[in-house]
Amino acid sequence: MIKIVTIVGARPQFIKAASVNRAIQASSQKNHIQEIFVHTGQHYDYLMDRVFFEELELPKPHYHLGVGSESHGKQTGVMLERIEAVLEREKPEAVVVYGDTNSTLAGALAAAKLNIPIAHVEAGLRSYVRTMPEEINRLLTDHLSTFLFCPTNQAVKNLEKEGIRSGRGRVIRNVGDVMYDSILYYSKLAEEKSTILKDLGLFNPQSAICNLQYYLATLHRAENTDDPKRLKSILKALHEIGKEVPVILPIHPRTKKVMKTYNLPVDSHRVRLIEPVSYLNMLVLEKHARAILTDSGGVQKEAYWFKVPCLTLRDETEWVETVKSGWNVLVGAETKKIVDAVRQREWGKDPLKNKRIFGNGRTSEKIVMVLLAHIY
Ligand code: UD1
Ligand code: UDP
Repeated sequence: MIKIVTIVGARPQFIKAASVNRAIQASSQKNHIQEIFVHTGQHYDYLMDRVFFEELELPKPHYHLGVGSESHGKQTGVMLERIEAVLEREKPEAVVVYGDTNSTLAGALAAAKLNIPIAHVEAGLRSYVRTMPEEINRLLTDHLSTFLFCPTNQAVKNLEKEGIRSGRGRVIRNVGDVMYDSILYYSKLAEEKSTILKDLGLFNPQSAICNLQYYLATLHRAENTDDPKRLKSILKALHEIGKEVPVILPIHPRTKKVMKTYNLPVDSHRVRLIEPVSYLNMLVLEKHARAILTDSGGVQKEAYWFKVPCLTLRDETEWVETVKSGWNVLVGAETKKIVDAVRQREWGKDPLKNKRIFGNGRTSEKIVMVLLAHIY
């Protein structure tokens, strides 16, 4: 029997960890793995947290560390202290961390200090912008990890550039993307269960096809929200675009807070601010959108998989393949650039360019197999 401790804390990690948990449950060797769930408490609002546990049928965390929102140093420090106590008690054979949040780094540091092997899912991504908190988290986590599960070939190459290679106890694999497993698994269920299009009045009963009636936007990156000028400029673009077709904006609590602080109002006819939505609702909103405007990592990929054109509200992206393919365009935060890009619609046109570059939908299974093969 091997014991692994899975560390999660933020919205996208619940989605990623659910895929791997499902693969463990489906594995013929499931009786040989015990998975202990640790929730740091980084995200805690019902719509940022529990809704995902319910919808994705994730097991209730064995440990909830209740850390909550703090400055980077304090949040990561408190997590580190509390995760260490859990690891000392559980003595797992490996710790699994996901993505690039403060919960990821705290989990990796706690494990490294106790000499417990770390498995990093979504290893090797780089923006090469060190002012991004996520870049620091992923750099350090990758350098500490024993198992580096990369989603793409580019990610493997990025690691090589930093001297991180397989061998001497390190295992690096391009296994594909766990989020791709997830949308393949949940898309059909989402269409069956979600009533979001009707609830928002987006479904046109006159037409069998209900798409092309709205743009979907998400916005939460520190670079866009912590600078009110940048945020204002993006919101202005959304208003401009919304004159023609409404923009649906499920609002991240971080963004909501900044908008309130700086009194950045939105015209609800053009930009419909809604609470964050559940994963199944999000998949449906993404699939039927005319285009997606986002600064989220996960949402850029989901746009690609749904073959929906994407405009990324950043100056760079870690998911360079989506840009190279022509399905994703980096538009930054300048109002005119965003509006012009939407009007020109010079992207996301050639289905032949939408290749399968994020694995075959069996990423989680591969991760479980690698862990079982190497930890025994
Ligand atoms: C975090 C990750 C980011 C990831 C995002 C996913 C870090 C450094 N950043 O950003 O990489 O893309 O999660 O969504 O780890 N808040 C609430 N309720 C909540 C959660 C947050 O009100 O349930 C508010 C608080 O005011 C908090 C702010 O949002 O201060 C930011 O939350 P935090 O978890 O620090 O960072 P995110 O912006 O969510
Ligand atoms: N998501 C969701 N509801 C929302 C916004 C996003 O379920 O209101 C999902 C989205 O489909 C994707 C993941 O959350 O699977 C992305 O998380 P987020 O944008 O918070 O973080 P990032 O991927 O940028 O780290």
